[in-house]
Amino acid sequence: MAKRVWTAALLGGATLALASCNASKNDSLSGTAALDEAEKASETLLKTGGSGDDWGAIGFSYDEQRFSPLTDISDKNVGELGIAWTADLEDARGQEATPVVVDGVMYVSHAWSKVSAWDAATGKPLWKFDPKVPGERAVHACCDVVNRGVALWGDKVFVGTIDGRLIALDRKSGNELWSTQTVDADKPYTITGAPRVVKDMVLIGNGGAEFGVRGYVTAYDADTGKERWRFYTAPNPTKAKDGAASDEIFATKANATWSDKGEWQTSGGGGTVWDAIVYDKDLDQIYLGVGNGNPWNHGTRSNGEGDNWFLSSIVALDAATGQYKWHYQETPGETWDYTATQPIILAEQTVNGTPTKVLYHAPKNGFFFTIDRSNGKLIDAKPFVDRINWATGYDLATGRPIENPEARFYKTGKPFIAIPGALGAHNWHPMSYNPATGLVYIPAQQIPQGYLQDMNELDKRKVLGFNVGTSLTGTLLPDDKAAFRAAVAATTGRLVAFDPRTGKVAWAVDHPAAWNGGTMTTAGNLVFQGTSLGRFRAYTADTGKQLLDLDMQSGIVSAPSTFRVNGVQYVAFMTSKGGAFPLVAGVAGGATRKIPNIPRLVVLKIGGTAKLPAPPATTTLAWNPPPMTASAAQVAAGKAQFGRYCMVCHGDSAIGNGFTPDLRVSGTLANADAWKAVVVDGALKERGMVSFAKVLTPQDAEAIRAYVIERSNWTKANLPEASAPVGR
Ligand code: HEC
Repeated sequence: MAKRVWTAALLGGATLALASCNASKNDSLSGTAALDEAEKASETLLKTGGSGDDWGAIGFSYDEQRFSPLTDISDKNVGELGIAWTADLEDARGQEATPVVVDGVMYVSHAWSKVSAWDAATGKPLWKFDPKVPGERAVHACCDVVNRGVALWGDKVFVGTIDGRLIALDRKSGNELWSTQTVDADKPYTITGAPRVVKDMVLIGNGGAEFGVRGYVTAYDADTGKERWRFYTAPNPTKAKDGAASDEIFATKANATWSDKGEWQTSGGGGTVWDAIVYDKDLDQIYLGVGNGNPWNHGTRSNGEGDNWFLSSIVALDAATGQYKWHYQETPGETWDYTATQPIILAEQTVNGTPTKVLYHAPKNGFFFTIDRSNGKLIDAKPFVDRINWATGYDLATGRPIENPEARFYKTGKPFIAIPGALGAHNWHPMSYNPATGLVYIPAQQIPQGYLQDMNELDKRKVLGFNVGTSLTGTLLPDDKAAFRAAVAATTGRLVAFDPRTGKVAWAVDHPAAWNGGTMTTAGNLVFQGTSLGRFRAYTADTGKQLLDLDMQSGIVSAPSTFRVNGVQYVAFMTSKGGAFPLVAGVAGGATRKIPNIPRLVVLKIGGTAKLPAPPATTTLAWNPPPMTASAAQVAAGKAQFGRYCMVCHGDSAIGNGFTPDLRVSGTLANADAWKAVVVDGALKERGMVSFAKVLTPQDAEAIRAYVIERSNWTKANLPEASAPVGR
């Protein structure tokens, strides 16, 4: 985007009221438990995966292996893949969804919870749906206004929205059929995950555990949107009953794992289920991947006491009733934002000579888990990345990690630089499993992070911004060139082919930067992955030999899917950066900083000859920092406020990653009124940059401006190459 010119007209626009939010029809259809023909077809497709012509759900089928049986594209001809069609998308925000394709029609969701449908073979647009999420909800999204996909069921398409609605659309027209508000809209809940359909119910969780909410999953009637059951994944603040499916297990066991002293009673405790919800058709049960605690800091959250069920756990529920069956907690008493929300894959594996129904999981904490689905027993837990320092391994008898005592920073009172950090050894980016090779393909990464015990008044719970109970300001990199360089060097990505049978990495491909795309694998002995450096690649599934390397112009974070129409196999995915990493990384974004962020749907086929639109002209932004006039004290005050409220979207040291504006070169920087109009008065709130008036005085905002001016000068003088501002 060209640098914004701050005219009087734009500043005046600050006072304009926002368009009111979308009124939903909410016209309930009469519910019926019996499935109609289209629903039966959906259920069969989800159970069996079908012929591979369809990609019936984001994870392909109920098992969510992201494995296609198609072999038309294989290790023999994948190098001949070319572009069949592309479509540029509206919003230059993260695109994380996997395209779902049924009967030759592609359904995909986008930033701001929008949905579109396309003729999958030709790229002809069929319909678009915009739930009109109010822009200021973006401040409650820890990791961008993304959406990871739709669910398809009978004649309906379901999507969850950033402002917490679950919406059913007509599959043919894209018209809204019903809409249910699934969260308390006054709380910082969001939905970024895909709904899942099980029997005649549609299931959805939520996010918000960085800010302070209480996690849960709800099952709704797919026909009417009426609630069937709800399971809370963190306790009721008064430990009272909720009238929910989770009541019994909390009363009998889970409540006791939370201290009676601790901030969870006001914060909600976290434990949101913002991604993985998987249905086990063999055992008729559902698995939830549960997120981190709020605040992260176990010392603050629960007085350093108790395991805090069901944070960082996989929880198995009865599908019909939502009743608890078992859970396995991967990180007891979690304190590093080690979510267990990552995608869950269902498979069969021979364990000690016995064919066993297992689930595979590679959560943020860096260990790969193989769990017996019938009883939740840990079969194995082995590292899938090289560098892990919070634990040395797992005791398979007790199922508990063997922790490094220094990692619990709230106990030692000393800072701890953890690897993995909060961005995880594996984040939401989908992994895939190939039954022919027995390998799981994980988009892994190494991103260290410092944790400090709550430092000062500013780090306490506030109505806006992250509330994580560890000083975010304290994690800003110091004024030290070597430290900045070390941050880049320490931040890497890797495609890991993990063998659950041996607990070892079978093969791996190193990526120079973190935050690469999700994977997909096929019976053609292939693994596909896009990279944060703008390549779309294919490798042999058995050995990892690279067979395809296409320039896609833009960073890629999403996972591909594949399908067949009229006998032709296609591969589909979206480009664009997005999510927590480009927002927060600063200079650690490394080479990804310079890669454009282009929101685009791309479909490939053998011999495809379409061309990408011309790449954006490389915009070197003029970099003329205003002179430093502020006092050191004002800069220091601004640094603290920036770390607390701004870093999570504008990057460490205000170094932008071509995703949100690089504040060091913002047209507002030299103009106190323009700066205040945005930061205090909310001039850009409908674009996701809210007013911080609830937590910042005009003096605070002015101090932040002083700090950003200081950063602009310092980085220009000291890191001119590594931090050169990039456009978006
Ligand atoms: C939730 C993410 C988020 C947070 C937190 C956030 N910003 Fe922003 N900010 C944005 C986005 C997105 C834009 C670009 C909006 C647009 O497209 O015009 C932006 C734009 C701006 C701009 C205008 C830049 C320009 O030249 O257009 C300024 C100034 C700004 N932010 C300052 C701040 C400050 C100061 C803080 C901390 C108090 C902060 N922001 C916190 C997301 C955020």
